[in-house]
Amino acid sequence: MQVTSGSQEGLSIVAQTLLAPGDVVLVEQPTYLAALQAFHLTGADIVPVATDDDGVLPDDLEAKIAEYRPKFVYLIPTFQNPTGRTMPQGAANSWRRRCSAPAPPCSRTTPTANCASTATPSPRSPRSPAWRPRRSC
Ligand SMILES: Cc1ncc(COP(=O)(O)O)c(C=O)c1O
Repeated sequence: MQVTSGSQEGLSIVAQTLLAPGDVVLVEQPTYLAALQAFHLTGADIVPVATDDDGVLPDDLEAKIAEYRPKFVYLIPTFQNPTGRTMPQGAANSWRRRCSAPAPPCSRTTPTANCASTATPSPRSPRSPAWRPRRSC
């Protein structure tokens, strides 16, 4: 186990450890900019996989795994950056199963996952569904 100062350091360590020049890493299109920079620094080739509102398109991902034999696949299933979307549970589970099968490994980061359980809507935000004007204001 390695303790890091955050997801970014973890990503850099994964990249430096697993990737060498000429290796391929598959990423969602679009994906987190700093992850691309960490992968790029190793000299690896970054290949985008098409996405829709449910995350990566299974056919495109499987085709690219077969074609490029990537070192790993980088997915952000929860609060994806930059789209903000969260993969439906079924899709996330299916990728989890796929990634526990033999290679390639998937790097799945959830740096903002705690937002789901800790964030409470601001009572002052008119956009929050829970927001109601206070009578006493
Ligand atoms: C997908 C993703 N990975 C990593 C990070 C960096 O996280 P940390 O602040 O924990 O280094 C962020 C920050 O926005 C992010 O969106």
